[in-house]
Amino acid sequence: MFTILAASLAALAGSAAAKGTPTVDQALEPRQAAFTPLASQHFNYDTLPYQADTSDGERGRQYGYNICNSTTEGPTSNCQTAIINSLDDFCIWGPPEPNSVVGNTEGEAVAWCTKPGHGSRIIPQGAITGAQFMRTPDYIQITGHINQALINMTPDDGGGEMDPHGADQRGNPLGGLVFTNAWGAGYTQVVEWHNFMGDNLFCLKACDPKGPNAARYCEHVFDRIGCWYNAPAAYLDGEFSSCLGASQDFPGIYTGADGVVSTYTQPPESLGPIATMPWVPVPPASSSCTTFSSAAIYTGQPTPSIAQTTSAASTSVPASSAAAAASKSTPAANKSSASSTASASAAANAAGVPAKFGASGVWGVAIGMVGAAIGAVAVL
Ligand SMILES: *[C@@H]1O[C@H](CO)[C@@H](O)[C@H](O)[C@H]1NC(C)=O
Ligand SMILES: *[C@@H]1O[C@H](CO)[C@@H](O)[C@H](O)[C@H]1NC(C)=O
Repeated sequence: MFTILAASLAALAGSAAAKGTPTVDQALEPRQAAFTPLASQHFNYDTLPYQADTSDGERGRQYGYNICNSTTEGPTSNCQTAIINSLDDFCIWGPPEPNSVVGNTEGEAVAWCTKPGHGSRIIPQGAITGAQFMRTPDYIQITGHINQALINMTPDDGGGEMDPHGADQRGNPLGGLVFTNAWGAGYTQVVEWHNFMGDNLFCLKACDPKGPNAARYCEHVFDRIGCWYNAPAAYLDGEFSSCLGASQDFPGIYTGADGVVSTYTQPPESLGPIATMPWVPVPPASSSCTTFSSAAIYTGQPTPSIAQTTSAASTSVPASSAAAAASKSTPAANKSSASSTASASAAANAAGVPAKFGASGVWGVAIGMVGAAIGAVAVL
């Protein structure tokens, strides 16, 4: 979606220039001159504006608002200030209307939080089936499994990325802000962050603005390769843990089987689905994990308003498909996938390999590969 939008905007700009018909550009010029990219704006949590985005460009106005309180809280909240504090107190971005596809609604996503108190919608009971909160020197990150239909996503949506950029620099969602108290001294604005939602997985990384590489750890250009590649972590379903850990490589930077460090370039959507990846994502080392075995850590959640018929397990593919997905990967991935098809598949299924391998198929490939790695370790 992001790629298509960028391409079409560029095409529009190009055709207007080529034909010498600058009417649209001229009309927009005064507003663009005053425009400040969302990621260049700084806000104080206690004095937030009603809407962080005050422009009125091609994508219209900001869908919701940034002042969120007890009046706005609940199932119709359009709060667009997300919080990430800890394993049991965080928000992720989800569509405002039921049965939506992220790619079509990323501009208007609203905050879905694990508990009351942030003026947002509350993630229903049972939706999150596994989660890990990770604190590193450079960022905090929440990753896990979610029954995404319970936060208004279609059950089979391969998903997409939310971040404070976008082709027009107004953010996805427009005006979406993220704050945390995890770095002390009250709430700090998380200037650079990314949140991938899809295939019943979620990941939100909030990069510490005091760090020198916040924008790189929270890179926003790899919108087609999902959580595993942008936020490598354990993604264990059924487990809830809070850990300290080492920082990942920057998204898109990887060390090949030959030991050479390379930079990945994401192909445009016009070239079709991404079938192979040149590396296998490796979760960084973690330490000091506190582990909880159930979702009981989440309190104050409403019961789901729709039947829970689409659990993460129901989206798993048969063992053979998981193996096939893994075999589509590159030579570097052979090492692990060759070890043990049976345990690899079991692990991959436990990790919730999605049934559909569309444009987002590479997410499933990654899960298959990591599942294979887990299987190989288990066999040893
Ligand atoms: C609560 O939030 C709404 C929506 O942003 C806002 O209009 C209202 O003024 C807020 N109420 C208070 C008391 O701040
Ligand atoms: C990967 O697997 C394929 C098929 O089994 C094999 O032909 C190829 O040599 C393997 N590559 C490596 C690096 O192991």
